[in-house]
Order: sequence, then C-alpha cells, then structure tokens
Amino acid sequence: MMDISLIIVSITGFSLLVLLLTFSLFIVKIYSSKSIRDPSYPPVKGTVFHQLFYFNRLYDYQTEVAKKQPTFRLLGPAQSEIYTTDARNIEHILKTNFDKYSKGEYNQDIVKDLFGQGIFAVDGEKWKQQRKLASFEFSTRVLRDFSCAVFRRNASKMVKAVSEFAIPGRVLDMQDILMRCTLDSIFKVGFGVDLNCLDGSSMEGAKFMKVFDESNALIYWRYVDPFWKLKRLLNVGCEASLKKNIKVIDDFVHKLISTKRNLLSMQEYCNEKEDILSRFLVASQKGPERMDDKYLRDIILNFMIAGKDTSANTLSWFFYLLCKNPLIQEKIAQEVRDVTGNQEEETNIDDFVANITDETLEKMHYLHSALTETLRLYPAVPVDGRCAETDDILPDGYRLRKGDGVYYMAYPMGRMPYIWGEDAEEYRPERWLKDGVFQPESPFKFIAFHAGPRICLGKDFAYRQMKILSMALLRFFRFKLADDTKTVTYRTMFTLHMAGGLHLHTISRKN
Ligand code: HEM
Repeated sequence: MMDISLIIVSITGFSLLVLLLTFSLFIVKIYSSKSIRDPSYPPVKGTVFHQLFYFNRLYDYQTEVAKKQPTFRLLGPAQSEIYTTDARNIEHILKTNFDKYSKGEYNQDIVKDLFGQGIFAVDGEKWKQQRKLASFEFSTRVLRDFSCAVFRRNASKMVKAVSEFAIPGRVLDMQDILMRCTLDSIFKVGFGVDLNCLDGSSMEGAKFMKVFDESNALIYWRYVDPFWKLKRLLNVGCEASLKKNIKVIDDFVHKLISTKRNLLSMQEYCNEKEDILSRFLVASQKGPERMDDKYLRDIILNFMIAGKDTSANTLSWFFYLLCKNPLIQEKIAQEVRDVTGNQEEETNIDDFVANITDETLEKMHYLHSALTETLRLYPAVPVDGRCAETDDILPDGYRLRKGDGVYYMAYPMGRMPYIWGEDAEEYRPERWLKDGVFQPESPFKFIAFHAGPRICLGKDFAYRQMKILSMALLRFFRFKLADDTKTVTYRTMFTLHMAGGLHLHTISRKN
C-alpha cells in the first residue's frame, strides 16, 4: 500500500517537474533574443498569453492598446507578433512589398486540414493560378446574373420565413436565419445545388451546416491550443471531432463533384454553365491545368468559408445597428421605396425582388453607406495579417525580423479617432456620402475587405447579396431588439460572430 502511494506521489511530482521545466523553457524562449528594449523595434505590450487572458474581449483589448500605441508587439515563443493600425504599414505589407510577406507556415499548418490547397491557404504560384482563374470567373456576366437570381430567390424565401415571426411576442434569431440564408446562396452559386437550410426542409443540409460551422470553430481553436498537434496525432478531444467533421464535409463534397463530372461528361461542351463548380470543371477540360477532385473540393470549400459567415455576420451587425438607430432604419426603408418606386401598402414579395436590378442596386447610396459603415465598426474579419519572409523596416520606422507576424487590426482601426475623427465610434452612414453619392475610402484605411493583390474577390458579390436581402427585409418589416438592455458582443473566432445570436422583434410594415 505504502509502495503504491509512493509511486503515485513520485509520478505526480515528476510530471509536475516536467511541466514546470517545459513552461520555464517556453517563458525563456518568449523573452530571449527579441531585442525587447531596442527602440528600433515596436514597443512590447505583452506576450501571447495576453491574447489568451483577454480572449473573450480580444479586439477591445487591442483597441485600448492601439489608442495609445498604433504599432506594438506581443512576444511569442519563436517570433514577435506585430500589430498595427497604421495605413502606411498596411499598404507596405499588402501591396508595395507584397512578395516579402506571405501567409506563413504557422498559419498554413493550422488551416490546411480544412482549407486544403484552396486560395486562402496558399501562396506563390498556387495562389496566382487560382486567383487568375477565380477573378476571371467572378467577373463574368453569367456568374453575376446567376448569383443575383439566387440572391433574389433567397431574399423572397427569407421574407416569407421572417413573416412567421411578425406576431407580437415572438422572437426571431436574425443571425441564425441569415447564416442559413447565406449558406443556401453560396452553396447554390458554388455547386448549383439547393441545400435548403433556410426552410429547414433538408436533413442533409442541416447536418452539413452543423459540421461546417463546427469545423471552422475547431480550426480557430488551434490558434490558442498549444497542444493541438499532439491531440491530432493521438486523435483525441477536439481534434478527433474535427477529423470526423472534415470527413463528413469531404464525403458530401466529393459526392457532389463526381455527380457533376458525370453530368458534364454526358452533356455537350457548354460555356453557359452557371455555378462555380461547373465553370471550373469546364475550365479544367479546356485548359492545361487538369483539376482533380481534391483540388476542386479545396477551391469551392474556400469560397464557402469566405462567403458565408462574412456576409451573414455583417448583416447581423447591420440589423443590430439599425435597431440601435431607428431613424437610420427608417431612412433606408424610405430609400428602398424611393428607388424601387414601390410605394403601395400591399405588395407581393416575389414581384418586389424581381424588380431589383443592377441599376436599382447602384442607386442605393444610403444603404451602401450604411453597410460600409457597419463594416468599418464591425469588420467581418477583425484582425488579419501576413508573415515577414525577410527582415524589413516598416514605413513608421519600426524594424521587424524574418518570421515575425504583422497583423492589421481592422476592428480597432474603426474606433481610432486619429483615423476617423473624434466621432470614430459613432455609427454615421453620412460620413461616406457627398451630395448623396457614396465616396469610397482608401482600402488601406477602410481595410474590411483586405487590400492589394489579395483584396477580397467577393466584395461586389457580397454587397449585391447584402443589399438585396436588406432591401427585401426593410421593405416588409421594421425590427426592434427583443431586449434593449442586453449587452451584445462578439464571439472570438475567424469572423466577427455575434455571441448568442441576435434576438429581434419583427413588425410588419403593412400594419
Ligand atoms: C462582407 C463580406 C466579406 C468580407 C468583409 C470579406 C473580407 C475578406 C478579407 C478580409 C479577405 C482577406 C483574407 C485573407 O487574408 O486571406 C478576403 C479574401 C477573400 N474573399 Fe472575401 N469577404 C467577404 C465576402 C466574400 C464573398 C461573398 C466571397 C465569395 C463568394 C469572398 C471571397 C474571397 C476570396 C476568394 C478571398 C481570397 C482572396 C485571395 O487570397 O486572393 N469574400 N475577404
């Protein structure tokens, strides 16, 4: 008995000692050879542990630091992580010195199980090839018209779904319904297939949505879990769940790809294929770059990751801000009526969306400004960055070393008086208008869509979807927060997700 207790105590003591030694080594690595007091490097404001400590309010913590120090450093075990709000630094890393910065091995390692060799994860030639092909496809009339038709149809479905909640006392989770809607849209545009998440009629769709969302969150978790590689090796905990989820996604997508391949091989060669997958399949038949199923899976899945949460999250913050600013909500509803010429009380949703043309969308300057103002304060990608491939000096004078991460802080940037003036934290769509016409800003200052050669490929696509959906919703309903006293905040992950959803009361405009 005595012996067993002794063994247990010894093992526990030994484990604690190993843990302590590992931790001390980690701390030594963090502080060693980082030129901490050298003023030519950005001032040190903490270590990566600060990110863990402030995880739940990470972007507000960064905002507080950035107000006093626009460029600063957090120390990591191998390298420094440099954070900046300086538009000159951002232009330097994203455009002027594009080739000196990359996604970095660290990031690629984390995302590649889910993102594969898709556009988000790769650099160099692989990126160039996908970017060229994808930007060509995104600029085609066929894809543009097809996506708008999909957005109109889904906006109509959305209005019908929301009208079920337009009863006193009923509460709608706007973020949830928007997520379903944008997944349906991007799935249809990506694969040419209806997933039917919005009306909940497809079990397969619901399952796909669940594993897709969970996988995104689990991949993000790797950024803060130092043991994720060990867990993946042992196939335990969240890494085991991630592996299972990715298998479900892969099976689902591969089944779709082979069905499409078969369909296409049976049909005549056709240039008018509408969805992205078919268009890539046709391109691969024409061009020298034969795309295997794995590559196609990566391409389409990256578009889905890029397009779904970003648009749904932005619209959620948009409706939140409209509830907080009812006069702005009414101003947009009035613009919808003025521009569409649709003034009658009784109007049919299908007729209404059918009349939203490209021309109509372009006239919606106030709505465009209100959406842009939402992205200024609540950028869907709150922090993003690159990795230095060589030693360099930033335009603000600070040095950095090969391997250092350089991050631009989109969320804090929207709140900086030294960028947007004293009213930076105020939601004011008018700041984007001159004589009623929308005025764009430098993409290095308004960074929500990234900038330079890797600027978001789906920007126009996203605006069209967001405008069509919000026009339809604001034409038929007025929205109010279900509980005005509740603090609304984000959940820290890749995109600026609202924690706990957005609970609204819906009032029909017919009443
Ligand atoms: C409000 C909506 C959106 C926002 C705020 C947004 C923002 C961004 C940002 C910040 C990046 C850079 C990410 C990085 O560092 O790799 C990006 C890249 C990208 N976005 Fe978007 N995005 C939106 C919607 C979309 C949509 C709807 C699509 C496509 C359907 C899309 C497609 C892409 C693609 C393909 C890239 C990668 C570009 C490249 O690396 O060359 N985005 N987007």
